[in-house]
Parts: sequence; structure tokens; C-alpha cells
Amino acid sequence: MEITDSNALGKVHGGVVMRAVESAAGTAAARHCGTVCVTAAIDGLSFLEPVDVGDILIVQARVNDVGRTSLEVGVKVEAEPWHGGQRRHTTSAYLLMVSLDAEGRPTKVPPLHPETADDRRRQEQARIRRELRNERLRRLNAYGNDDTPADDNWRGDDGRHDEAAADASRRAG
Ligand SMILES: CC(C)(COP(=O)(O)OP(=O)(O)OC[C@H]1O[C@@H](n2cnc3c(N)ncnc32)[C@H](O)[C@@H]1OP(=O)(O)O)[C@@H](O)C(=O)NCCC(=O)NCCS
Repeated sequence: MEITDSNALGKVHGGVVMRAVESAAGTAAARHCGTVCVTAAIDGLSFLEPVDVGDILIVQARVNDVGRTSLEVGVKVEAEPWHGGQRRHTTSAYLLMVSLDAEGRPTKVPPLHPETADDRRRQEQARIRRELRNERLRRLNAYGNDDTPADDNWRGDDGRHDEAAADASRRAG
């Protein structure tokens, strides 16, 4: 990290780290899908420790779980002084990426085959986060969503299913 990456406190700006996080997530998603993948949402990003000018960043990203056209990617960022020394876990994040076809439309993602106990734990935790997102939306949408931020206007899984059910009932009747 260089001086141009720093904020007024002399530490690396959070946005610089976020860019590295998103870039790594996009690469992991694209490698899994073999397609271009874009970020739909970030479901949690924690700055655990500051990054110093002069640190090198080690950014690791892995696919935790897949949906139909989306996938959750977990990213871990560590920092280490350029001349060596202790490596610190500085940032963790979970990103929802969407696989796009050549026309830029969401397209199906290949299945994920967790191999280790750790892989299965990550997948389970990703599913818990998805349930919590849907529960959050359900509760917020109960108040109406005219003036809520964009992420709360997202329909979520249930919105999709409700809409599909409404379509089916319109067609039926
Ligand atoms: C992401 C994007 C392609 C989704 O398009 P869309 O028309 O809403 O697509 P859909 O409603 O079919 O949703 C596609 C998938 O994304 C998921 N999704 C969409 N918005 C989401 C959100 N805010 N949070 C979590 N998941 C989301 C849906 O659940 C669905 O997943 P599934 O197929 O696995 O069930 C579109 O919103 C977009 O292009 N956004 C801008 C992306 C961007 O510029 N990112 C920054 C630079 S990479």
C-alpha cells in the first residue's frame, strides 16, 4: 500500500481495501462460473484492524455457496509489513455475485461440491446469511418500502416466489 492509498489518519483508506475485496470476489466467482460475474450486494464487511502504508495485502476469496444465478463469495484480507513481520487478519467480507451471460442477463451457475468439513461449514453459514437476509426483508417490507434504501427494495427469494405464485394464479384464473 502506498501513500496515495492513505486517509487523513495515515492509514489505508477503507475504500482501497474494499476495491481489492470486490476484485478478488469477482475473480473467484468468474473462475467458478466461467462467465463474467458482477457484485449484486455486500452482505457484511468488517474492518478488524487498520492497514498501514507499506503493508502488502494478501487477499483470499472463495465461493461459499451457490444459488440459481447468484453465488456468495467470502473474502479474507491479511496485511503484512513489506519487510516481513507479523501477518494480521484485517478485513472479512461476504459478497453476493451474479453470473451474466453474453447479453448481460443473469445465467445459471454451476453447482458447488464442498469437499472438506470447512467447506461444508462455510456453505451452511452462507445459507444462514441468506435466510437472515430474507427475514430482514420480510420484516422491513411489512412497513412498506417507499422510502427505504435500494437494498431493502430488493425482493429476495420470497419476493421472487410470491411473484411467481401471483403470476401462476393470474394465469390460472
Ligand atoms: C446484479 C444484477 C445483474 C441483478 O439483476 P436482476 O435483474 O435483479 O436479477 P434477478 O432478480 O434475476 O436476480 C439474480 C440473482 O441475484 C440475486 N440478487 C439480486 N439482487 C440481490 C441483492 N441485492 N442481494 C442479494 N442477492 C441479490 C437474486 O436473488 C438472484 O439469485 P438466484 O438466481 O441465485 O436466486 C443487476 O441488479 C445489476 O446489474 N446490478 C449492477 C451490478 C454492478 O454494477 N455491480 C458493481 C460492479 S461489478
